[in-house]
Amino acid sequence: MITMDPTANARDERIRKRPEDYPGANLSNYEDFIGKFAWDQARALLDGLPGGGLNIAYEAIDRHLKAGRGDKLALRWIARDAKIRDFTYSALGAQVNRFVNTLAEHGIRKGDRVFSLLGRVPELYFAALGTLKNGSVFSPLFSAFGPEPIKARMTIGQANALVTTEAFYRRKIEPWRKELASLEKVFLTECSANLPPDTIDLAAALAQASEVCETVQTLPEDMALLHFTSGTTGKPKGAIHVHEAVVAHNVTGKLALDFHPDDIFWCTADPGWITGTSYGIISPLTNGVTMVIDQAEFDAERWYRILQDQKVSVWYTAPTAIRMLMKTGADFAKRFDLSRLRLLASVGEPLNPEAVLWGMQAFGKPFHDNWWQTETGGIMITNFLAMDVKPGSMGRPLPGIAAGIVEHLEGGSVREITKPMAMGELALRPGWPSMMRGYLNEEARYKKCFVNGWYLTGDLAMRDSEGYYWFVGRADDVIKSSGHLIGPFEVESALMEHKAVAEAGVIGIPEPTAGEVVKAYVALKDGFTASEALRKELLGHARQRLGPAVAPKDIAFRQNLPKTRSGKIMRRLLKARELGLPEGDISTLESEER
Ligand code: WT7
Repeated sequence: MITMDPTANARDERIRKRPEDYPGANLSNYEDFIGKFAWDQARALLDGLPGGGLNIAYEAIDRHLKAGRGDKLALRWIARDAKIRDFTYSALGAQVNRFVNTLAEHGIRKGDRVFSLLGRVPELYFAALGTLKNGSVFSPLFSAFGPEPIKARMTIGQANALVTTEAFYRRKIEPWRKELASLEKVFLTECSANLPPDTIDLAAALAQASEVCETVQTLPEDMALLHFTSGTTGKPKGAIHVHEAVVAHNVTGKLALDFHPDDIFWCTADPGWITGTSYGIISPLTNGVTMVIDQAEFDAERWYRILQDQKVSVWYTAPTAIRMLMKTGADFAKRFDLSRLRLLASVGEPLNPEAVLWGMQAFGKPFHDNWWQTETGGIMITNFLAMDVKPGSMGRPLPGIAAGIVEHLEGGSVREITKPMAMGELALRPGWPSMMRGYLNEEARYKKCFVNGWYLTGDLAMRDSEGYYWFVGRADDVIKSSGHLIGPFEVESALMEHKAVAEAGVIGIPEPTAGEVVKAYVALKDGFTASEALRKELLGHARQRLGPAVAPKDIAFRQNLPKTRSGKIMRRLLKARELGLPEGDISTLESEER
């Protein structure tokens, strides 16, 4: 049984684990394990391709077929209407091959970029794996994006092909498609009888394609995935990941999610973000587990039913979802038979200590928080199954990962701080297989991430005397809303496109369920007056361009916005004022009078 240590101080509180809480765990003795771990061994767990090649899709599917595991259930897809479609590893492989042959037939080749804009539908999995097996680069987009974030990403990524639904295409892509010359092929799902010009009906194409194909020979350092992420300023950044990343996807699945062949795994992440690829596709499949995929959006009862009926054993979810479950109460959870659950994990945003403890009430097990980023490609820090959980802590670094807390010195260098619980920037020693290899066409922004041999994460954190890491906040102005990273600049730019807007400053404000929500401050051009009607118009404008997940939830008008002498809007000051916090160092503030 897992017991709680009833110490008063939250930081000292711990959920103790005993060997009977983690029978057969892949990592049962941390110190011992990290001492022996080497990435080469992790690499040896995979087959590779002849001649030193490596391909993610081959490791996820073909390797299992070769080993006679083709009849194992790979993917159980639960449609919105609760109908189920099952794919064994061989059935999934056949669909993936059809997709590869479809791409090839349409001239999409090695190195070409294939984007997806899809919900959780089987075609997403065929497309992701088929793209990789074809040697092309897969780039998933969030389906709640509006046309602008989609256009920006597909333009930066120079998309050659897109897989999306007919409805998304008509609404979000067709209006600007002609502006993107690289985009040769558009494959549509859920097609009407009336196919838009210059598009391909994916279902028809797959039906005609052969189920047999060879893996395109890719090398470990060939680009495989392009995942977009946001910074404080400038356009979204395309983080480049290579086929070698599969070494980390695979082994971190074993170590952080404790994958065993019999596991039934449910990752609730949206496929438009990296968690949905690294742990919603690649890691579970390379580990040969069965994954459950639910097409529908969050619904507490539906989720408990899935956990119960599908006998989910490892569940990977996010704080926003956990907080929504908490609202329905622990007693509700207890109405279901959730006895198969053996590991609950959470990622993407700070997980409140109360949420970890609520896991104990509702499931008899804590949530295991873990930390990583688009740039790191895989889990870097985690609360291991076989280790005491400290509620509020992100856990300890994975084997093969060297983390530290650094302070910034004058002149731009950094230095590690080893004093327990000293706050600084979370940094990692580069060199693990799933580390990004660059930001696409943004060498300078990429280089800026590395100082004195450290990769700087942009997060502020502390490490305690036992080596557990504690998240403090972001070092930059990037917003995390419902686990989705939102760049304030992208939102400000969309607002600035409106004829009434002179200046816009965008911040995240705390909200109990989503963690943060987007709020915009707007100064109007001369000749425009603030009114409720204009506020609504601006909200509508932003929503239409950016999509509901990115658009501000609230807009406030200001005479002018606080700026530095060099003209940069001081988002931090907007935030401090919004929250009634001290304004901090305002020595660079330009006078706000006009
Ligand atoms: C940022 C990365 C999680 C991988 C996919 C999303 C925040 C992530 C935690 C956590 C507190 C967390 C950080 C990080 N974050 N995990 N356990 N506790 N904050 O990757 O969209 O690139 O976001 O999410 O700020 O830098 P991402």
